[in-house]
Amino acid sequence: MNQQGRLYILKGKLGFALLALGVIAISSCNKDKVNYSAPPNCPDIVSFNDQILPLIQNNCTGCHNNQNGYTLTNHSNISANSAAIIGAMRANGYELMPDNGPALPDSLIERFECWIYQGKLNN
Ligand code: HEC
Repeated sequence: MNQQGRLYILKGKLGFALLALGVIAISSCNKDKVNYSAPPNCPDIVSFNDQILPLIQNNCTGCHNNQNGYTLTNHSNISANSAAIIGAMRANGYELMPDNGPALPDSLIERFECWIYQGKLNN
């Protein structure tokens, strides 16, 4: 094989490696996203201040204000932990929360999912 042939093969391998890296980079960006089997049914824009913050305050903040591994008190820490929160509400990959159950009503869990789906607005 001549030198040009080797170079060609090398370029092919490099291209494949870059492609593989790209795929890994894209999939790792998605790791904080919630996997929906279907998009949640969200008739309205959910309000963080009127709906999400009270929902978390009433059900979670009592045990998660600088204790038990999570602080869930404001838009920034609730957004940052949204995947763990929904995982715990649905006992999906996390222990069921509120601790020792019962699970929250589906309507509240779906509202939280809609808030994530709509881009975790600070509204
Ligand atoms: C009665 C206290 C209590 C309440 C209420 C509570 N938690 Fe927890 N939470 C805990 C404790 C304690 C842990 C540590 C794990 C354990 O020992 O159960 C925990 C752990 C977690 C974890 C990590 C679980 C894991 O498997 O890694 C998440 C996420 C979480 N809570 C979210 C929430 C959310 C969201 C709510 C509200 C829906 C909530 N918690 C309400 C006490 C509570």
